[in-house]
Amino acid sequence: MAVEKDVYVLPRNPTEAERLHAQHEHYTRSFGGLLVHPSIDLQEYRSILDCCTGTGAWLRDARVASHAGATFDACDQSLEQYEQNNPVADQVYVQDITKPFPADLHGKYDLVHQRLLTAGIRRDQWPTAIANVAQTLKPGGKLTLTELNLELIRGAGNGTSEHLEWKNELTRAWWKKANLVHNCADHIPDFMREAGLTDVQAIRLRVPYGAACLLIGMPEVSVDSSIRLYGGVSPALKRQWVESGTGTAEEYDAKQAAHEEFLKSEGMWMDVNMVVGTKPL
Ligand SMILES: C[S@@+](CC[C@H](N)C(=O)[O-])C[C@H]1O[C@@H](n2cnc3c(N)ncnc32)[C@H](O)[C@@H]1O
Repeated sequence: MAVEKDVYVLPRNPTEAERLHAQHEHYTRSFGGLLVHPSIDLQEYRSILDCCTGTGAWLRDARVASHAGATFDACDQSLEQYEQNNPVADQVYVQDITKPFPADLHGKYDLVHQRLLTAGIRRDQWPTAIANVAQTLKPGGKLTLTELNLELIRGAGNGTSEHLEWKNELTRAWWKKANLVHNCADHIPDFMREAGLTDVQAIRLRVPYGAACLLIGMPEVSVDSSIRLYGGVSPALKRQWVESGTGTAEEYDAKQAAHEEFLKSEGMWMDVNMVVGTKPL
């Protein structure tokens, strides 16, 4: 039997799990505590799924912000990173969202949250994947997706910097080769409409890295911690750089060091879209 290749280009291991946790904290702080699209009042929902949960970090915080009687399920293609020893979900299961969910889960949830699949879903798979996830919603239920653009924006706003363009070109080439969507945030509303969701609304947010953290009042320590957060995907990028024959490991390290110096002095932003859609009645 042919085994379908896992598209996901990021690692799944304890180091990445730690990075995902820290990333969740950074996102939540950047968004002023916002966990879902602001039109959603978590207190109104009773049956919630965190789809592609990773470590379950979102679910842990969403549980505190929701009605005490709400049930929370979590699913992911791999539960390797889910905190098996500290479970917060009522039911946890393995599910590849590019495949239909089992029939007994259809129409189960009144709210489904899903975040950061840009590294896992190919362009041609997105509308079907969203339609699969939407099948688990009750009629009238809400799907809230949060996705980011990988294009880096300099801290000062206008113009480009060679230190960011270097990374932009690398991720663009990598994402293109894997058929992934580089500026996923921009495309999510259309993918959701294509998947049959209605009343699609989006808000654009921005996540700071390096010195840009200080511009929104984050503590000094977040300058370095956010650089480490973004740098966490660097080993995979470095492998791509070396394997594709673009340059040597030493050249990569020198460019990475200059990139991090730039982040310390000026910083950068990444655009995020929080989008909500409704399953038709
Ligand atoms: C970048 S992590 C984000 C995790 C979590 N949503 C968060 O925001 O912290 C992406 C997650 O999606 C999962 N994933 C990737 N492709 C998937 C697929 N086809 N079906 C289900 N989960 C998938 C990965 O295993 C990983 O846990």
